Amino acid sequence: MHSTTWIELSSEALRHNASIVRQLAPKAAILAMLKANGYGHGASWVAEQLKTTVNGFAVARPCEARLLRAANPQARILLLGTLLDSDILFECATLELDVVVHDLATAKRLAQTPLPRPIAVWLKLNIGMNRLGMSATEFSEAHNLLSATDHISTIQHMSHFSDAEDIDPSLSQQQSQKLLTLSNSLGEYPISMANSAAIIAHPDTHHDWVRPGIMLYGDDPTQRLSGDRALKPVMNFKARVIAVRNVAEAEGVGYNRRWRAKTAARIATVAAGYADGYPRNAPDGTPVLVNGQRASLAGRVSMDLMTIDVSHLPTTAIGDEVSLWGDGLPAAEIGKHCGTISYELFTRITERVDRFYR
Ligand SMILES: Cc1ncc(COP(=O)(O)O)c(C=O)c1O
Repeated sequence: MHSTTWIELSSEALRHNASIVRQLAPKAAILAMLKANGYGHGASWVAEQLKTTVNGFAVARPCEARLLRAANPQARILLLGTLLDSDILFECATLELDVVVHDLATAKRLAQTPLPRPIAVWLKLNIGMNRLGMSATEFSEAHNLLSATDHISTIQHMSHFSDAEDIDPSLSQQQSQKLLTLSNSLGEYPISMANSAAIIAHPDTHHDWVRPGIMLYGDDPTQRLSGDRALKPVMNFKARVIAVRNVAEAEGVGYNRRWRAKTAARIATVAAGYADGYPRNAPDGTPVLVNGQRASLAGRVSMDLMTIDVSHLPTTAIGDEVSLWGDGLPAAEIGKHCGTISYELFTRITERVDRFYR
């Protein structure tokens, strides 16, 4: 049976995007961000595609780390900032996970928790986002404590930019300098700070480990990459037309008849709704591609369906393929219409959407 609602995931695009990271940061090791199920693309599939190109993976939750470890016994896997009680620390050591230590209390707990094997830690400095990370004083104390702790195998120093995609680089330069100065004062340790935007826009922040997320999946948050270096969308979100009808001038379409026909119009109903992950708040005019041609949303997105104005595409028929985002229609563009970003769109695709890996 043909699918009505599906995502196609391109390994060629994913590998291309990883090769761009490699070109932009030729000297750094690459820690691919696989949290949130590989930004909605399927963490195990992404890991399989990238395992020979990148140097490690990062996830945000212990449950994600367990799954990834089970499928990748040899990979370096970092568990990003989370709550690390003694049990989780013990499990992380058992599973040979690296852990981010983002507060001094955790550093102290880690120093006192007997572990089955040594663990690698990434100490996180708060450089201005005020979300996670230690102050400079706490960071130095945590560093000194853990560097004197037997069951710590290696220490890395990390931070995370608040505004890396800003056209003005000065804030990121100041933030980067904070980690660099502090880290250098403590010795020579591997440094990691660059996310996708910094990998693209701030080459001086690459250091030892870069941490690309969204650029692997094909969105360039700086919109600076072009030509051979342009990123390729990995996810193509598609659905089929399941009904087509004419509506008369002044008739409405969808719940509350939000969209009104200014003149007689032709409306196609597409099998994708908010229960598939298409945003309910998408306004009229949000673009889609019907057989490669642009058309736009007409009426409120409902749970299973959306309606589009195909008056200018008279051959539109039941069964036609509609692209909701992907090649030729960047998820970031849909995000702009809906007041969100590609990250959220990708991670909101739901279980019932079929997946085709190619
Ligand atoms: C700590 C950390 N590093 C790197 C990234 C990757 O960011 P991006 O997807 O913008 O490349 C994230 C994502 O939010 C993150 O939380």
